[in-house]
Amino acid sequence: MTDPALDAEALRERAVASLVTARDRTTLLTSCVDGPDLTAQHSPLMSPLVWDLAHIGNQEEQWLLRAVAGHEAIRPEIDTLYDAFEHPRSERPKLPLLPPEEARRYAADVRGRALDVLERAAFHGTRLTEAGFAFGMIAQHEQQHDETMLITHQLRRGPQALTAPDPEPVPLFTGPAEVLVPGGPFTMGTSDEPWALDNERPAHRREVAPFRIDTTPVTNAAYQAFIEDGGYDEPRWWTAEGWAHVRRNSLTAPLFWRRDGRQWLRRRFGVTEVVPPDEPVVHVCWYEADAYARWAGRRLPTEAEWEKAARYDPAGDRSTRYPWGDADPGPEHANLGQRHLRPAPAGSYPAGESPLGVRQLIGDVWEWTASDFLPYPGFRAFPYKEYSEVFFGPEYKVLRGGSFAVDPVACRGTFRNWDLPIRRQIFSGFRTARSEDV
Ligand code: AVJ
Ligand code: FE
Repeated sequence: MTDPALDAEALRERAVASLVTARDRTTLLTSCVDGPDLTAQHSPLMSPLVWDLAHIGNQEEQWLLRAVAGHEAIRPEIDTLYDAFEHPRSERPKLPLLPPEEARRYAADVRGRALDVLERAAFHGTRLTEAGFAFGMIAQHEQQHDETMLITHQLRRGPQALTAPDPEPVPLFTGPAEVLVPGGPFTMGTSDEPWALDNERPAHRREVAPFRIDTTPVTNAAYQAFIEDGGYDEPRWWTAEGWAHVRRNSLTAPLFWRRDGRQWLRRRFGVTEVVPPDEPVVHVCWYEADAYARWAGRRLPTEAEWEKAARYDPAGDRSTRYPWGDADPGPEHANLGQRHLRPAPAGSYPAGESPLGVRQLIGDVWEWTASDFLPYPGFRAFPYKEYSEVFFGPEYKVLRGGSFAVDPVACRGTFRNWDLPIRRQIFSGFRTARSEDV
């Protein structure tokens, strides 16, 4: 939102719409299964869905009702239950959580009061409410948990609970396999995107050497070639930790895949299907992405390379908000917002390509990068250290671009996600790169 004409009233409308969109999605994800399913733990990696629901309400209460509007706590005794740092996910089912009906009522009660606060809030004067930041942050927080809850649905055993139309089929992509990104400095991060989170700030210049990057994410067919070539049995493709990890856990294919004679099947939201060859591979960990890239004679792009490929416009010598320019994402640009429950085939969304011709940087699958999750020069934690700062360091790898499961409000060219290199229940894929010989 670099348009200064976008005034407080337009931002207020955007905040209301973003909160409503998030709640519609939360409601869908928590009403398509029954009570026992909401309180069950479908994987030790995930919270019960009913925890996410009340945590969404509790985070909204803490920031929009208490911090912005100075209200007293509605139910001070539940704060500790929904503090993500006090209880690991695997222990949350044993907590005295609000049962589904009570969790719904609590979240709805908070939301009613938050909309009253929003109606009267001044969008200037404090950093928290400047340009509606706190409201945008809370809409993004809810959407992030909506992606988390979709992951829980994917891990859940049992019949299909969610459906969505498939993406439009497209002809097999026959464009160039890779694109040259010129060397030189570009602007990374942002200082003027109103709802950008702390780790995306501030904007700063970054020097990037010339490199080539895949035009599309790596497909299932390409990844299968790595498997058939014995990729999982060949230590030289793997880092030492990666090799130890695949051996210890007997990994032989992406999560949810199963071999059936000569073909591969996968389970996707309760349905078993043949793995579609031209779709971006999803549910691979960082170690698998890194090993594939080495097998292909390539490497993962760094985070700065990924962002330059996504935002650098050589014509204007500037960085745009998205690969296609500064316009908010529409359905023609990218596969976002759980509109579809799978990635779109490689080569989809020509209207979303970058000026250099790179496709599907936004949406479809989160893309692993080579980079550790670190602060930008001049980083300041805001409004709380537990969003980003406590995670900075070499344990976490950065993912970019957003998946089909993330809403546009929580996805942009500067947005940074992170996770442990062993994680693959997330909607993670990748593309590869190589340095340009000079
Ligand atoms: C940015 C996706 C890593 O889910 O752990 C949600 C987002 N932070 N509540 C996460 C988040 C606090 C976060 N990720
Ligand atoms: Fe959270």
